[in-house]
Amino acid sequence: MTADGCIVHCGGDGPLLVRSPLRVRIAEAEDGIEKPKAALCRCGKSANKPFCDGAHRDIEFRASGPIDTTRAVPGSEATSGSEAEEIVVTAHANGPLHFDGVVELSGEGHDGSAHFRQPWMCRCGASKNKPFCDGSHKEIEFQAEGL
Ligand code: FES
Repeated sequence: MTADGCIVHCGGDGPLLVRSPLRVRIAEAEDGIEKPKAALCRCGKSANKPFCDGAHRDIEFRASGPIDTTRAVPGSEATSGSEAEEIVVTAHANGPLHFDGVVELSGEGHDGSAHFRQPWMCRCGASKNKPFCDGSHKEIEFQAEGL
């Protein structure tokens, strides 16, 4: 395996589960919070954005559905655990999460996993193309202050 990506699970109706080292930052900040792995909110209702606080259960968030693999990057590999290089996840103000690298997405609705280069991931809960952002955060006037 090469160390050029990270693994993200987005199955079920819960958060994006990042299973590789990451640094989470806001769009204009240089630094950020480093973590060995993280659960990132994608329902839009966490009081601890961009991290999950379990709010998806309270609002009965529904995110299941097939991942659109037509945007997948062929020939890329991802790794996990201590071998993985840190990926930077940028939380854009009132908008999506941007992953700066190759992401291996696994989840329900498709077999195995697929790789995506620098994907923009929905964190407002309103995208019609989950787990990706489709711009719906503007329509619902999504608010996400700070991280
Ligand atoms: S962040 Fe949800 S559609 Fe863009």
